[in-house]
Amino acid sequence: MAKVTIQKLKEMKQKGEKISMVTAYDYAQAVLVEKSGIEIILVGDSLAMTMLGDEGTVRLTTEEMIAHIKPVVKGAPTPMIVGDMVFGSYNESISQAIRSANRLMKEGGCDVIKLEGGRPEVVSAIVEAGIPVQGHIGLTPQTASMLGGFKVQGKSLEAAQRIIDEAKALEEAGAFSIVVECVPEELGRAITEAVSIPIIGIGAGRYCDGQVLVFHDMLGLFDKFLPKFVKQYAQIGDEIVKALSTYKEEVRQGVFPEEKHTFGGLSREDLKDL
Ligand code: KIV
Repeated sequence: MAKVTIQKLKEMKQKGEKISMVTAYDYAQAVLVEKSGIEIILVGDSLAMTMLGDEGTVRLTTEEMIAHIKPVVKGAPTPMIVGDMVFGSYNESISQAIRSANRLMKEGGCDVIKLEGGRPEVVSAIVEAGIPVQGHIGLTPQTASMLGGFKVQGKSLEAAQRIIDEAKALEEAGAFSIVVECVPEELGRAITEAVSIPIIGIGAGRYCDGQVLVFHDMLGLFDKFLPKFVKQYAQIGDEIVKALSTYKEEVRQGVFPEEKHTFGGLSREDLKDL
């Protein structure tokens, strides 16, 4: 399969072909996503919670993000790899934002970057610097406390209008795509129709150009909470616990290892005088 490009995603929107995107944070996960044919991998800052056990995403550093982008790039040559800008890496100044985006591209090796919030001036500066940007509006987890917590956004007409305006401003600023999180389904549709760039929804209903889910949520690998918008396609976590428990029991009972798992070459007799 050919590498997924911005052009390909644009054509998919134009033809009405739905785009799939999923997070991945290490080599093994990336290899699995590569085999699935999914078009986009997001190395999301959700890794702070799913991989590093944090309560939220705010503490994550750019160094940690780069360390997770690198193995994903190695494991998945075909999907577009999106590196997520971490909290505090683009809110000081335009030059800080460009510097942080450069680091994800040069040190991590991702194809494009994503950043949260309706910040067209930051997006246009990064795009001007030659780095493709995916926006992220609606519920923006890095600043969730300013939005009243992890709540559906854009429920009033005024708020809905603001989010549509943000989407248009991001498109105008040069974003090639936008993630829209946790908004009413009809608002998800209205945003999708209001712009010509692909809208990737998460909790934004059925009419977006594509969907994104967090790897650990959709596969049953994260059991702290499960948002309403997640569909669990498998319960891999339960399978892993079953396998680990069986292994522990077999070790305890001396059932594992069997002879086929051992190396010959010396007999007990050979070793008796050592
Ligand atoms: O970090 C992440 O996983 C995300 C998705 C929720 C879109 O930003």
